[in-house]
Amino acid sequence: MCRETKRYKEILKSSGISNNFLSIGFKEFETERKHHTVVKAKESAILYYQNFKEIKNTRRNSITFLSKKVENHKTGIGAGKTHLSIALANNIMKKYKLGVLYMPYRDVITRLKQNMIDEEYYQREISKYKNASVLLIDDLFKGKVNDTDINIMFEIINHRYLNCSPIICSSEFGIDELIGFDQAIGSRILEMSKDYLVEIGLNREEIGQGITLNYRLR
Ligand SMILES: Nc1ncnc2c1ncn2[C@@H]1O[C@H](COP(=O)(O)OP(=O)(O)OP(=O)(O)O)[C@@H](O)[C@H]1O
Ligand SMILES: [Mg+2]
Repeated sequence: MCRETKRYKEILKSSGISNNFLSIGFKEFETERKHHTVVKAKESAILYYQNFKEIKNTRRNSITFLSKKVENHKTGIGAGKTHLSIALANNIMKKYKLGVLYMPYRDVITRLKQNMIDEEYYQREISKYKNASVLLIDDLFKGKVNDTDINIMFEIINHRYLNCSPIICSSEFGIDELIGFDQAIGSRILEMSKDYLVEIGLNREEIGQGITLNYRLR
């Protein structure tokens, strides 16, 4: 195996993306007869991928997929945010030969909290997420969020913000809620994702018509 192939294989392996998801590309994310916000999400992901080389060292080098909240409906659940984020990560790894680290938010935050007293382990673990070339945060702020979660996430996000390190982010929350959890974190993510920010979701009328974007319910 040539050196380059070997390096690429290592990049894929250390991404933390499981084997069956490593083959997902943009092609596998279908948009035929899909809602315009879903179509826009895919277009943004492709544009981000195409511009990645030019933007990757700037402050606006990130992309975020959110779910629009209308009254008490989270209308973008199951609409493909994770699927699209992984397709994007795979494309970046393949084309730019750059590592993308997958961070399933809830699992990682739980593990970090459980190991906080082991300072050495904690610093080693958190530094992976601070220093990854590209970080894919999946389902940010999923579950019950307390001050410790906020502090850990701030440490990661602020480090990446200061160092202009790209983030791919998905969350079941909308813009206002993201800011509501913690303004310092929310505003940094939004600034970094300013050019590639999509709120997937429905409007009131569509909800009234009983439309759902949840792929799992089809
Ligand atoms: N456009 C699409 N084309 C093909 N498969 C899709 C598409 N959208 C979603 N899926 C599939 O539907 C399922 C749900 O998608 P996914 O997990 O990406 O949604 P999500 O928006 O991340 O949901 P959640 O808000 O619960 O995190 C997955 O199995 C995914 O592969
Ligand atoms: Mg998801």
